[in-house]
Amino acid sequence: MTGRPPSLAAQTFTGDSQSIHRLVLDVRRGEIPAYASTPAVAHRTLAGLLDARSPRLLPSTTDSVFAREPLPTGRRRPTVPFLPRTRLLSPEEQRIAVECFARAVAAGELTSGPAVAQFEQALAEFLGLPHAVATSSGTDALIIALRGVGVGPDDEVIMPANSFAATENAVFACGAVPVLVDVDPERHTLDPTLVEAAITPRTRAVLPVHLYGRLADAAGVHRVAREHGLRVVEDACQAIGVAGVGRYADATVLSFNPYKNFGLTGKAGAVLTGDSELHARMERLAYHGFAPGEKNVKSDVWGFNAKIDNSTATVATGLLPGLTLNNYRRAFLAHRYIDALADLGTAGQLVLPAFTEDHAWHLFPVRAAAGEAARDALRARLQADGVETDIYYPVLTHHQPTPLREKLFAGVSLPRTERLNATVFHLPLHNGLSVTEQDRVIEALHAAVHATAH
Ligand SMILES: Cc1ncc(COP(=O)(O)O)c(C=O)c1O
Repeated sequence: MTGRPPSLAAQTFTGDSQSIHRLVLDVRRGEIPAYASTPAVAHRTLAGLLDARSPRLLPSTTDSVFAREPLPTGRRRPTVPFLPRTRLLSPEEQRIAVECFARAVAAGELTSGPAVAQFEQALAEFLGLPHAVATSSGTDALIIALRGVGVGPDDEVIMPANSFAATENAVFACGAVPVLVDVDPERHTLDPTLVEAAITPRTRAVLPVHLYGRLADAAGVHRVAREHGLRVVEDACQAIGVAGVGRYADATVLSFNPYKNFGLTGKAGAVLTGDSELHARMERLAYHGFAPGEKNVKSDVWGFNAKIDNSTATVATGLLPGLTLNNYRRAFLAHRYIDALADLGTAGQLVLPAFTEDHAWHLFPVRAAAGEAARDALRARLQADGVETDIYYPVLTHHQPTPLREKLFAGVSLPRTERLNATVFHLPLHNGLSVTEQDRVIEALHAAVHATAH
């Protein structure tokens, strides 16, 4: 370790990944720092973790904020699910969601209504970006963003091959084609130094993905894109709250599907931008091409039916104040995993992620250093021991078994992406994971590594 990062006590807590990172380090060192911001900001950004009456962190920060999920009894080896559906929202969040939804139903404000603009404003303020368009999903937001910056038929969009299918599908939905570029091996994200060689006269945009919640080298991507007159749309669907998101892109896309850090009661997403013209265009694209403030009068030729529902936006507004606490929980648990598994990293058996301040810890990736067979053996052993793991995402874009594999991607070779993908798997990490469950995963992983090492 080189030099200690400054304690949070000396800083203002903004609720972004940098301030959460400092807070986690302070709390893990046993220092519960005095809170340096105003109570009002404290309340908005860290609801539940702070005593709003006095601007100090609650003394019980280390344990009281985590789910108290007891391990099931009656089995000799209790199980840990990867992401149990009944715990996507905490009991408190479920109560808030139901109350908000009931209000929207009673008012008959289901599709359109005042909560849409309220949520868009709250979200833009939270992220420190001027404009937000809340949408029916992250996928729709990606399509709107790409269309908004001018991506159309036969254009090329430079992107990584390791993402959820929505990223490539959004490009296809515009009639454009993905041009795949290899990743930075540490971040698992688009390597900006390889972007230039992939640019052709048909290239219109670059689409980095902040995979697993870790910021891609957004500044690097932005620099290359600007030199070549390209637009940048960033897929930040897994990276809400990460410092730097939105700073180096024309448009930033988020997802609020129930499995995300900020998960709602159904599908939803948003696209954010600092460009007011692009904002207006995306707003029209999101709803039938209608002119702003007009009903049934178009100013564009066409548009989607892809705005967020008012009922969902009401829930989103109710749950937004809890986002920072959930991101804190994830970062704390990530730090705990990294600490407790460090011996397996040092012994060269696992490759662990670094605890960095540009991460929302949507997923916790580990890699089996010995390769794909070792990864699969470890996962099988964990599964037999009752600990569920997963792989995000099992099939890379250029390996998907569709007719496009031969047509578009026959000659594509991405050695780093392919190596990462063959060895990576993910441990349980979600807003509702309890420390007890995490201890069980840590113990089972040690046992699995030792059992499969010979
Ligand atoms: C990286 C990435 N991009 C895009 C999406 C699409 O978001 P949504 O499910 O809201 O359409 C997701 C989430 O599923 C995602 O993880």
